Amino acid sequence: MSSTPEHLALHGQVVAAATRAPSVHNTQPWRFTSYDEGLDLWADPQRQLAVLDPDGRQLHLSCGAALQCAVVAARALGLDAQPRLLPDPSDPTHLARLRLATGAPPTEQDVAAATAITLRHTHRGAFDGPPLPAALLEELRLVAEDHGAWLRLLQDQDDLLALEVLLSRADDAEQADPAYRAEVAGWLREEPSADGIARAALPEDPERGSSLRLRDFTAGTGAPREGAAAGDPPIAEHPDVMVLLSRDDSTLSWLLAGRALGAVLLRAAQDGVMAQPLGQVTDATVPRERLADALGLLAVPQLVLRLGHTSSAGQAGRRELADVWSPAAAPEPASRPGGSEPYELDRAACLAYLRSGRLGRVVLPGQTRGLASVLPVDFVLDGERVVLRTGEGTILAAAREGGWLTFQTDAVDDTGRAWGWSVTVAGHVYEATGSEHERLLGLGLNPTAGGARTHHVVIPVEVAQGRRVGGPAASPHDRDPR
Ligand SMILES: Cc1cc2nc3c(=O)[nH]c(=O)nc-3n(C[C@H](O)[C@H](O)[C@H](O)COP(=O)(O)O)c2cc1C
Repeated sequence: MSSTPEHLALHGQVVAAATRAPSVHNTQPWRFTSYDEGLDLWADPQRQLAVLDPDGRQLHLSCGAALQCAVVAARALGLDAQPRLLPDPSDPTHLARLRLATGAPPTEQDVAAATAITLRHTHRGAFDGPPLPAALLEELRLVAEDHGAWLRLLQDQDDLLALEVLLSRADDAEQADPAYRAEVAGWLREEPSADGIARAALPEDPERGSSLRLRDFTAGTGAPREGAAAGDPPIAEHPDVMVLLSRDDSTLSWLLAGRALGAVLLRAAQDGVMAQPLGQVTDATVPRERLADALGLLAVPQLVLRLGHTSSAGQAGRRELADVWSPAAAPEPASRPGGSEPYELDRAACLAYLRSGRLGRVVLPGQTRGLASVLPVDFVLDGERVVLRTGEGTILAAAREGGWLTFQTDAVDDTGRAWGWSVTVAGHVYEATGSEHERLLGLGLNPTAGGARTHHVVIPVEVAQGRRVGGPAASPHDRDPR
């Protein structure tokens, strides 16, 4: 399908539907561009939650759900949409390429599935209808499997109790963190808004209606919405609780789980069933692992959902189409100024590339006749901080001394030499201690080099520079530095 005005009009409709997908804190961390045969989906790292989602897991779940809405909307327009996930190994922000081809006329079922995109919404109040029919639960389970993920229904009282306890603990830990509270507060909206969580979408009184702790988007101010009737007896509710699971914690599995999430929610919405994610218990690595242990799960929990019947309506705000979609095709490398000349990456792109790396180098100033020490290290990106694990030695000594430290990482196309990139960052290095060290243990950083590497060293990304050459397509941030 070429990019004629008619085709671009269809692309616009597909993207508009995709943006109706659920996203963590309603961040909508996606961007779309058209190309001659369809649409490209990109992560928008500037909309990633640095505190809640340092590794971008929930960003990928959200973008996976948006991709699923795009596929469903395309089908209802008579288009066959075949997504290719992570099409460009050199660019981790390029999440999917969605080829759109003219297909068979849509069936009634295709239209019903697409209609559910506009009906679906997150319901944070009580679920006071009857429990969901067993046939629907089984169908939801199969829908998740069809998309490369799993749904585990929690019916055993011990499982539900374990979830309740772990969810409350995880929520307490988050509420005790000022950085978490500040981030949540930054996404709470008093008035209808294009993104974020509107106060009107919160339950009148979060204490009522559920023994499963809801996320407190008021960041501890606890102010119930006007009209909350204090002292009313709790509503007896009948939600069904399920856990969305993935094979592992790779970006591919997160995208697949996101697609499955979108497919499950759309199928449920067709029957007037809405969901309430209970994200606190899966936000951080440690509670997620405890949940997996407590429930005896072999796969990785990604999101817990309460589901139930509700007649409530709700439409959280969405950004304008023009803010998330560029109808212009991404320039091919050959047509870029300078051809295969290297070009600069902006900060957001540098962070996205860093997030995809595992091995880098610390550069310590020269001691012997100007020769710098370049030390290979395993690393992870925690928000906007490079984290290393090390033992007693020069890196730890530098961290204890403080001051600037430089870190570099890169990747090249080993086979075709078609692309390569390099990112160099610097910041005031320090050793993480106390609760920060405890939290970083949860990142599961396991250095290749052996020995007792019990210390975490942190390099905040205060300055970043990066270059890239070649590649099948550029990230929107390469072309559109904001
Ligand atoms: C990965 C992910 C995690 C989420 N976590 C929560 C959560 O913990 N609590 C909550 O109330 N909603 C959660 N949501 C729902 C979003 O807040 C919601 O999708 C967004 O505000 C847009 O509203 P809508 O779903 O009604 O369109 C989550 C959604 C996603 C995709």
